Amino acid sequence: MPDDFISKTLDAPKTAFDISLRPPMFSEFAGQDKVCQRLELMVQAAQQRGDVLEHILLSGPPGLGKTTLAYILAHAMGVNIKNTSGPTIEKAGDLAGLLTTLERGDVLFIDEIHRLQPAIEEYLYPAMEDYKLDIIIDQGPNARSIPLNLPRFTLIGATTRAGMLSAPLRTRFGMTCRLDYYTAEELQKIVLRSAGLIGLDIDDPGALEIAARSRGTPRIANNLLRWVRDFAQVRAGNRVTRDVADKALEMLDIDRDGFDEMDKRILEALVHKFNGGPVGINSLAVAIGDDPGTLEDVHEPYLIMQGYIKRTPQGRVALPLCYRKLGISAPRRTGDLFD
Ligand SMILES: Nc1ncnc2c1ncn2[C@@H]1O[C@H](COP(=O)(O)OP(=O)(O)OP(=O)(O)O)[C@@H](O)[C@H]1O
Ligand SMILES: [Mg+2]
Repeated sequence: MPDDFISKTLDAPKTAFDISLRPPMFSEFAGQDKVCQRLELMVQAAQQRGDVLEHILLSGPPGLGKTTLAYILAHAMGVNIKNTSGPTIEKAGDLAGLLTTLERGDVLFIDEIHRLQPAIEEYLYPAMEDYKLDIIIDQGPNARSIPLNLPRFTLIGATTRAGMLSAPLRTRFGMTCRLDYYTAEELQKIVLRSAGLIGLDIDDPGALEIAARSRGTPRIANNLLRWVRDFAQVRAGNRVTRDVADKALEMLDIDRDGFDEMDKRILEALVHKFNGGPVGINSLAVAIGDDPGTLEDVHEPYLIMQGYIKRTPQGRVALPLCYRKLGISAPRRTGDLFD
């Protein structure tokens, strides 16, 4: 049994299962109401003018629907989408190769855009701004740069770390949207929709039980649902009720708050090894045996959002909720750590 289901779910390459459950249009995309309203309005306005969509930056923790929205936008505009990611664009030529195959209005989707190399980023600026690109041909003394006009296209960037984007890149996006964690009710809708797609018999309380333990994240909800389906098939006559979902998730070591082993390890290390903090992210990562990037991108945002830990300039600090979760009383402290 996986002991840290959350990291495995959020860090793993996207599976065919993930993709098969991706809503293809806004009407099937639950939650993120404000973001969807803005994006739908942009699509409508661009279509009325016969224009292309502005460049859009989507940010937020893993598994909340950034890639899904990029595909929905392309679909709504009736254009093609080319999918790449920051780390895979190694040379300016790779980027040129992508840009020169675009047709007017097409979407170039760059995932993990905060991981673009600075040199590639600079190469991207004139393409985003003026739809121009300098192609370098030949090498050494014969090297020449040839200006090339690109069709007007839309760049959609996705990032889990908006703060790591350089200011010049950030300001070249016409619209920036931040996705937030979903409510249990929104996730319940997603679970019910996904269950319908995979032909699983589930009642509303069963779906809510899965939703409540999914850390506000659709990808986790869908993966828990897949596990619950297996459980129901073998142990519960293929029908998911609240009780069946509860038993299935218990077997996976996902507790009532949606915490898995790794979350508990983080809270325990913070309290028992570092006396409640403040402790730097690197020391905390070493103590739990995970890498700082995964800790910062995957686990920490939810723990912070829920008020278990706090990020301070000195490091991470345990909040009263963290002590309560571990069943111990919070030490009395002086100072303003808990304000
Ligand atoms: N609002 C939604 N309604 C229904 N399903 C959703 C929604 N958002 C996401 N999903 C589902 O969750 C899965 C994960 O979403 P997606 O891959 O778009 O997340 P992401 O933000 O791009 O994550 P990452 O940062 O890891 O790339 C999708 O495959 C889709 O099935
Ligand atoms: Mg994605």
